[in-house]
Amino acid sequence: MAEKQRVILVTGANRGIGFLIVKKLVENSSSNNDIILLGSRDLKRGQDAFIQLNSPSNVHVLQLDTSSQDSINCVIDEIKKKYDGQIDIVINNAAILTQEITVDTARALFNTNYYGVKILNEHLISMIQENGRIINVSSRVGVNVLQDITPTLREKYISSTLTKEKLDQLVEDFISAIETNTLENIGYNIKSEVLVYGVTKMALNALTQIEAREWSTTKNLVIASVTPGFCSTDMTQHASEARPAEFGADSILYVVNAPQNELINGAFYRDGKQIPLIDESTIKNQ
Ligand SMILES: NC(=O)c1ccc[n+]([C@@H]2O[C@H](COP(=O)([O-])OP(=O)(O)OC[C@H]3O[C@@H](n4cnc5c(N)ncnc54)[C@H](OP(=O)(O)O)[C@@H]3O)[C@@H](O)[C@H]2O)c1
Repeated sequence: MAEKQRVILVTGANRGIGFLIVKKLVENSSSNNDIILLGSRDLKRGQDAFIQLNSPSNVHVLQLDTSSQDSINCVIDEIKKKYDGQIDIVINNAAILTQEITVDTARALFNTNYYGVKILNEHLISMIQENGRIINVSSRVGVNVLQDITPTLREKYISSTLTKEKLDQLVEDFISAIETNTLENIGYNIKSEVLVYGVTKMALNALTQIEAREWSTTKNLVIASVTPGFCSTDMTQHASEARPAEFGADSILYVVNAPQNELINGAFYRDGKQIPLIDESTIKNQ
């Protein structure tokens, strides 16, 4: 029996790991001809990526700037009009990284890496098909930052009663503390590697857990976060010690394709294995 044709959205897919995810989906979708929506904040860059893939008929370029509510609204309308509202898999891959710790850079990073994912998911989870999947692309750096913060602050991020409203407040408190130079007073470690990016990914992991709690009994969904691992892309300036970006794409595609009974809602994956969000020994030693 032919498999059902799925509609899969990949954000930030014009280059890097997102592009490779689309490439691999195209290579593997000959039997069921999935429709793959290649999200790109710049339409021309998206079209160039499409041409690089040899213009496959089942790939459609979608202009999507995940930091813009208007852009998200347009995409939701387009999915409703062109695809009858069908969406099966969402891969929230788009993200930015900077070393700077300023209010402006923090706002930009949170708008794309956290708020954009949150808003897009709020729209798409209500439309998503039975057995759908939401995959939030995160990073080990988010886990590292969680280890570096004070136990009191950590408890807030990992609390099973954390809500989106409370998480937004933690995010806004973090941004305000940059402005007032009080990050350490509220529990952050300013020596954490790529602190602002790390906090966006820590918040994204917390969001994934909230979404999983809210939605996992609905439509048999899987909602998980996944790290591609340290990969050679523009984001890492193609660092010599980084692994090929194809491995990162495979790490994410595992959560797209694994049988449902192999996956745990709200969990964090790398290379097909669940990895803990918090190392218990760190907590015990504090
Ligand atoms: N590479 C690594 O070692 C590594 C490790 C851990 C996690 N990750 C995560 O893996 C994902 C992919 O990273 P990558 O290494 O492939 O990064 P990358 O090469 O820098 O590519 C990032 C992609 O995101 C897009 N993007 C940025 N802001 C956007 C926005 N507001 N709206 C829509 N698209 C936007 C970029 O589009 P433009 O071309 O328009 O800028 C680009 O297509 C990210 O979530 C990243 O945090 C990467």
